[in-house]
Amino acid sequence: MAAVLAGIGGFLPPRVVTNEDLSATLDTSDEWIRTRTGISERRVVSGGTSTGDLAVQAGARALRSAGVDAVDAVVVATTSPERLCPAVAPEVASRLGLGQVAAFDLTSACSGFLYGLAASAGLIASGAADTVLFIGAEAFTTLVNPQDRSTAPIFGDGAGAVVLRRGEPDEPGALGPFDLGSDGSLADLLAVPAGGSRQRSADGGLGHGAVPTEDWYLRMEGRPLYQQAVEHMTQSAQAVLKHADWSVADVDWFVGHQANVRIVRAVAEELELPEERVAVNIDRVGNTLSASVPLLLNDIAARGDLRPGDRVLLSAFGAGLSWGSTVLVWPDITAVAVN
Ligand code: COA
Repeated sequence: MAAVLAGIGGFLPPRVVTNEDLSATLDTSDEWIRTRTGISERRVVSGGTSTGDLAVQAGARALRSAGVDAVDAVVVATTSPERLCPAVAPEVASRLGLGQVAAFDLTSACSGFLYGLAASAGLIASGAADTVLFIGAEAFTTLVNPQDRSTAPIFGDGAGAVVLRRGEPDEPGALGPFDLGSDGSLADLLAVPAGGSRQRSADGGLGHGAVPTEDWYLRMEGRPLYQQAVEHMTQSAQAVLKHADWSVADVDWFVGHQANVRIVRAVAEELELPEERVAVNIDRVGNTLSASVPLLLNDIAARGDLRPGDRVLLSAFGAGLSWGSTVLVWPDITAVAVN
């Protein structure tokens, strides 16, 4: 028994913010952003669009790709929830007409898609579900300080979704073994200090008045994160390849979390994977956290580069710290290019 990929879809909010747009208000330049991150533009939510709105759009596309209108469970990975409480997954299920199915959120920042795949596969393995709609959805730009040039250029919004069904381990689309890990001792390298229980319980009350505005926004230490990302994505990818009994030469596509094109290339270099097998779309979307890997898979499948039978290595790293990897043989499913 295995969890098998049966459908995929993605969605990006329509508003495009280019590097030139950012340079109008920040002390930065198109050249700096492109050469240091690989990003040219990103999509940004506006007008009250929420994480759930993005999730519903991507989820509908994944259901269409799988040719189903019912699932047993809905899981949403997000680090930019539209509300602190409740989870958005039940509302997404309801808005998609999926009824009163099992539904919950999980939070694992940029590795959310890998953790969510493993959790969804676990629902199938436990017998709790035969089919799962799993969505990575993020409106993370709402947590980024528009005045902070070290973070504002990096992130973008979007959602990517997959449908998983119960199947056999030797079928195309069957998820392979997982490698998952974390290091909470480095949690402060990327964090939003305010809005949670630590800040809310301070001073014996909500303490909103005392909270500096910057604390409501992301704080990030880019350089150490960069090193950690390369190290853990490489080690995790190597671990999962070993577990799956694949060699690097078996990998047709490395689909790594898009945090910085230099990170993806450095990991590929460590793995000795040639550049033509490394998937990249960060130039158009930036870092979309848990939506990053499914949006990239959808992109390369929709343009016909990723074909049925191709062997794919997925790997991601993010805040927490947290990381994860898995492998699969690409199944014969429909992927439609995202707007
Ligand atoms: N425009 C122009 N200059 C900028 C800038 C910007 N947007 N942001 C930073 N700089 C400057 C810095 O002030 C610094 O100047 P200095 O040398 O005079 O002090 C210089 O550029 C280099 O800064 P540094 O932070 O060392 O750059 P970097 O090469 O490490 O790139 C990141 C910065 C954030 C792009 C990179 O560290 C990174 O991608 N880190 C990982 C982030 C990440 O993955 N986060 C999500 C977790 S998955």
